[in-house]
Amino acid sequence: MAKRQTKRPRKPAPIRQLGDPVLRTKADPVTVFDDALADTVELMFASMYEARGVGLAANQIGLSQALFVMDCEEVVAVVANPRITFLSEETQTGGEGCLSVSGHTFPTTRALRATVVGQDQTGAPIEITGEGEVARCLQHETDHLNGKVYLDRLSGDVRRQARAEVETV
Ligand code: NI
Repeated sequence: MAKRQTKRPRKPAPIRQLGDPVLRTKADPVTVFDDALADTVELMFASMYEARGVGLAANQIGLSQALFVMDCEEVVAVVANPRITFLSEETQTGGEGCLSVSGHTFPTTRALRATVVGQDQTGAPIEITGEGEVARCLQHETDHLNGKVYLDRLSGDVRRQARAEVETV
C-alpha cells in the first residue's frame, strides 16, 4: 500500500451532537486498512484539533466505524477495533466532557488505569495502557464506539443534574 506523498489539507468535519442516532449505534468493525482509512484518520485528527478535543470517535463525525483517535497527555494514537482488556478496581472521579455534548462537564467516575487493545491504521496490533486522563480517554472513546456516551456513566444526583441540563439525555 503506497502512502500518498502529498497531504491535502483537510477541512474538519462537523461534530455530531447528542440526539444524532449515529452516537447511539454500535460501530462496525474496521476490516480494510487502506488509503481510504488513512484519509478518515486524517479527517478525524483535523476535526478533533479544530474542536480542541483530546479524543474523537468516528461516529462523532457520522462514520459508523470502530475507530478512534486521541492526543491526550502526549499519547497520540489511532485505534481501530478497540477492546478494553483491563480496568483497575481503583477509580478516579473528575470532570469529563465530550465534543458531542458541547458546553457541559460532569464529574464522572472511571477506572484509574485501563488497557485497550486494537489495531493501528495499518492493521498492526497495538496495546495502550494508561492512567488518569489517558485511562479516562481510552474508556470514553471505546464507549462511543459501543453507542455509549459518558452521561450514561453518571449516577445519583449528578445524573439527575445532567438530565436537567442536557435535554437529549
Ligand atoms: Ni466524547
